Amino acid sequence: LLSMTTLFLEILLLLPLLSNAVDLSPPFPTNFLFGTASSSYQYEGAYNSDGKGQSNWDNFTHGGRGIIVDGSNGDIAVDHYHRYQEDINLLEDLEVNSHRLSISWARILPKGRFGEVNWAGIDFYNKLLDALMLKGIQPFVTLSHYDIPQELEDRYGGLLSPQSQDDFAFYADLCFKTFGDRVKFWITFNEPNYLASLGYRSGLFPPRRCSGSLAIVTCNEGDSEKEPFVAAHNIILSHAAAVDIYRTKYQAEQKGRIGIVISHEWYEPMSNSNADKLAAERARSFTFNWILDPIIFGKYPKEMENVLGSLLPKFSSNEKKKLMKGLDFIGINYYTSFYVQDCIYTKCDSRSGTSRTEGSYMTSGYRNGVSIGEATPFTWFNIYPQGMEKTVTYVKDRYNNTPMFITENGYGQQDDQNLTLEDQLNDFKRIKYMKSHIEALSTAIRKGADVRGYFAWSLLDNFEWIYGYTVRYGFHHVDYATLKRTPRLSASWYKQFIVNYKQTE
Ligand code: NOJ
Repeated sequence: LLSMTTLFLEILLLLPLLSNAVDLSPPFPTNFLFGTASSSYQYEGAYNSDGKGQSNWDNFTHGGRGIIVDGSNGDIAVDHYHRYQEDINLLEDLEVNSHRLSISWARILPKGRFGEVNWAGIDFYNKLLDALMLKGIQPFVTLSHYDIPQELEDRYGGLLSPQSQDDFAFYADLCFKTFGDRVKFWITFNEPNYLASLGYRSGLFPPRRCSGSLAIVTCNEGDSEKEPFVAAHNIILSHAAAVDIYRTKYQAEQKGRIGIVISHEWYEPMSNSNADKLAAERARSFTFNWILDPIIFGKYPKEMENVLGSLLPKFSSNEKKKLMKGLDFIGINYYTSFYVQDCIYTKCDSRSGTSRTEGSYMTSGYRNGVSIGEATPFTWFNIYPQGMEKTVTYVKDRYNNTPMFITENGYGQQDDQNLTLEDQLNDFKRIKYMKSHIEALSTAIRKGADVRGYFAWSLLDNFEWIYGYTVRYGFHHVDYATLKRTPRLSASWYKQFIVNYKQTE
């Protein structure tokens, strides 16, 4: 009875949300892309089918070194490899005009550039892309969404080696040549800032190396504080190599665009003190400017140089030349915001970790016990829609209004065995989250930000990295025993929102 009453109250409170009353006049430009996002390891499964090679995530989750909370892996994931047509039908039902997906590098180059092309893998992506095109859904394709062939790790230490740049260039070239007739939006890497920090500082992601006070796993002998910066350096140069190939060999004919995706939490100073304001700017530098500044300005942010000194690699003049080709758009994954407190000039609160390599700032969702936004079961995840507007405006101002896409934004719900399926499908909180964030985005656009698309994470529940299957982000619920997909209320909400948008276009 209690849950019925709660549901009734929630419905009453949320009725205005269901009305889709996002003010659409006039912010979203014509041809704005509204889509959903996914990635190969989190969706495909079929981890060793039809000649696919082992990826670093296969290795990490199988070898016992992974620390996935439910001990799971992406062997089957949501079996998108076999069910892609069904999933594309769901996209059609949603009326999205675009979908973001990633290619599994190890599926088409099982041994990187040291082995044969796996034509069965190419065939899968050809079928997937063709099926999307047939429904008029524009593919937005990421080349590496956290996964790389394990061969590259085994042979030369993966992203820590400059050799990874040659491998990425080889792989990117193959993708442009093979799929570029249909793909008009390319993303080189997904969230390299996270990839470098989680793989080489906290050790939460493969190759599970760590350093500094933010290490969460036991470090290997030889791990060093330099590693996140070396890995990021190689990723930045790999991006540059791919962009160079695209510009010189393919872009004129294929007429596509190429960019990179950054994970972009918003950082708000904990107080009005100058020290905290500087700390917030340092936090921005150590996360997203870290990657975007070199690609757009040819150098690392000065805040990083000041704090890190010789820990930060330098770009040689030859490398600087490679960086000149920049990017065509910036992809932003925005989910949450944090307060930042200075720990260099002032004694700081010890509520969460500080790190010399991050400029000794402290991030926390709380100021004087007050959360920056609505708290959720995840300590790292505060709901703060204004952070979307602030982020977009910050990127606009810093990078001269380079075209932007919101490549991810979404609401993760902790899986709860006590909830009935019906409870799980009535995802009012997700609707509230999406609506408020799209509204905040529209405000930024109204104020002049050149944003050209929005991709919701995610079409389906899926494998959420170290959280395994315990966190659900989907517009569609997935029953992991049967792999049955069932639309949530948010799916109808998003669809209705898109239908309304199309009418105003
Ligand atoms: C960002 C990552 O790109 C994606 O893979 C992940 O599932 C979402 N954030 C949600 O955490």
